[in-house]
Amino acid sequence: MSTTLTWYGQACFSIDTKGTKILIDPFLTGNPLATVKAEDISADFILVSHGHSDHLGDTVPIAKRTGATVVSNFELFNYMQSQGVENAHPMHIGGAHQFPWGRLKLTIAQHGSALPDGSYGGNPVGFLLTLEGQNVYHACDTGLFYDMKLIGEEGLALAILPIGDNFTMGPVDAIRAVKLLEPGAVIPIHYNTFDIIAQDPQSFARQVEAETSARCVVLQPGESYTL
Ligand code: NI
Ligand code: MN
Repeated sequence: MSTTLTWYGQACFSIDTKGTKILIDPFLTGNPLATVKAEDISADFILVSHGHSDHLGDTVPIAKRTGATVVSNFELFNYMQSQGVENAHPMHIGGAHQFPWGRLKLTIAQHGSALPDGSYGGNPVGFLLTLEGQNVYHACDTGLFYDMKLIGEEGLALAILPIGDNFTMGPVDAIRAVKLLEPGAVIPIHYNTFDIIAQDPQSFARQVEAETSARCVVLQPGESYTL
């Protein structure tokens, strides 16, 4: 069996593993890079990192249509319940849970998490997934933090890192993150969705490969990476 991760721009991925579809931060409506519509995507689980609209995205309508289980911090879990989402699983930072498809641990992220209606979204998180025995770290929205070193100590096959700058790490700090995380491969995300986060991912990739031992994979929206 293999695990594939398909990128839809910004932080949104669809992961296929063990016959299960896991969506991360499904921002599709209003996302100029998305190659699929919220109405057309399937999901068994939806992981939401924080309450900002470019991450919460279409979570509620997709969960209601598909019956997918939404996994998030406790505060976003409360919000899901208030929105009538039937299946939701609360977790919090540092906690891990073994799901049928793999293990998920929530990590810290240095960011905010207010919901679009202004309600409290708790602390933002990143995701450390163990899929078929391989660790994948999706940093979601964050600035650089030195505790990435601790996440890297778990042994990462893949790190998914924002490089857009302005709202998150830019390329310079993302290179420092790669050095702390020491993953086998890196996928840059959270860039070129809007002019304010325009970046050259090929230039970032060249620098990753020149300065670290990681491979850098630049995905086009809609393209997949196989673990
Ligand atoms: Ni954000
Ligand atoms: Mn964002």
